[in-house]
Formats: sequence, structure tokens, C-alpha cells
Amino acid sequence: MSEAKRLAAEAALKYVEDGMIVGVGTGSTVAYFIDGLARIKHQIKGTVSSSEQSTAALKAHGIDVFDLNEVGELSLYVDGADECDGAKNLIKGGGAALTREKIIAEASKQFVCIIDPSKQVKYLGKFPLPVEVIPMARSLVARTLVKMTGGQPVWRMKDETSPIITDNGNYILDLHGLQIADPAGLEAKLNQIPGVVTVGLFAQRAADVVIVGGEPPVEF
Ligand code: 5RP
Repeated sequence: MSEAKRLAAEAALKYVEDGMIVGVGTGSTVAYFIDGLARIKHQIKGTVSSSEQSTAALKAHGIDVFDLNEVGELSLYVDGADECDGAKNLIKGGGAALTREKIIAEASKQFVCIIDPSKQVKYLGKFPLPVEVIPMARSLVARTLVKMTGGQPVWRMKDETSPIITDNGNYILDLHGLQIADPAGLEAKLNQIPGVVTVGLFAQRAADVVIVGGEPPVEF
């Protein structure tokens, strides 16, 4: 699938215009986009990054990374996804960067999502839904998620003893066993649980354009 990811990322470069500050997502598909951005880095003003991982890659290419607070609204955000339905609703957060990703998506006029064909689904939910939680609320949120959805939350771990810590110092619960009929409704409902920082459903602010990598890439 890496060739499909690369083709999707390359196709997204045509949305980059001279002088832009580009919002940059996180993940292996975005890594190809960053490589492409490096080739045209003299045409752009810089970037806003959604993770420490992407910031490191952008800086390694000599691309400026700005604080979102300094730049206001962005014209373009390019990011990958873990699942995408026909209405461009997404599940994101497989790379644990969902909170900053959601902030940048919200701050951007156009959100271009780059995926390989394996990410396309009829209903979201086969990929476990990432939920970023404040550490002290982990167990409370897990119990509430079970009651509200019937799904099974799993605390995301780096290894047997250490949990994944997000760039914001929080934990991730991956909610298994969902078939999501109303993504925007579920996003709104889960956002209300005290201790939830971000739900990895991008439906209230879905993608504007999806590029599925292939020869040729398909856009919808
Ligand atoms: C990171 C994300 C990524 O966009 C998502 O996990 C897809 O990653 P990849 O491009 O490596 O398949 O949401 O938090």
C-alpha cells in the first residue's frame, strides 16, 4: 500500500499554492507529502504541524514550522486517515495525533485527505475509534464509553508496562466493536464525556476532498 500512499500524497501537491502556509498532518502517507513539500519548499511560506513527529521531519527538510496562533486561518490542510466513508467522514488518530489534527482541520479552509484504497469503508468503526483522554479520567471515560456505545475500550500501550503518551501528555483509548451509523451524532455525544479531550471522528468537520492513491489517483 505504500505506493498508493505515495501516489495520493503526490496528487495533493497540486493544492499547494505559492506563498501558502500549509497545515501538515501526521503518519506514513503524510511522510510522502512532506517529501514532496521539500521539493517545492522555496515556493511556500512554511507549515503548521500536527505532531512532534511531523515537525521533526519538516525541520529536517529545512521547512519552517509556525505556531498556529501566529498564523490564524490556514488555506490548506493535508492529512491521512485510518478510515473514510463515502461522505468524507473520517476516523483518525492511529498515530495518536488526533487532537492537534482536529485543531488544524478546524482552522483550515480546505482539508485534503490522502489515503490508500484500504481506508475506504461503507461504515466507519471497523478501525478502533481513538479517544484521547486526560490521564486521571481514563477509567471513568472507559466505563462511560462501554455504557454509551456497547464498544470495548482498550488502553493503547507502547509495551506491556508503558502507555502511549500523546504530544499533549494524555492517554489514548481505542474503542473496538463499533459500526457507526451517525458519525457526527456520535462525535457530539462522546465529546460531552468529562475527561475526553478529542474523539477521533472527523465528521462535524469532515474532509473537503479525498484523494485515493492509485494509477491514476481518484478524487471525490
Ligand atoms: C495520525 C492519523 C493518521 O492520519 C492515520 O493514522 C493514517 O496514518 P497512515 O498514513 O500512516 O496510514 O490520524 O494520528
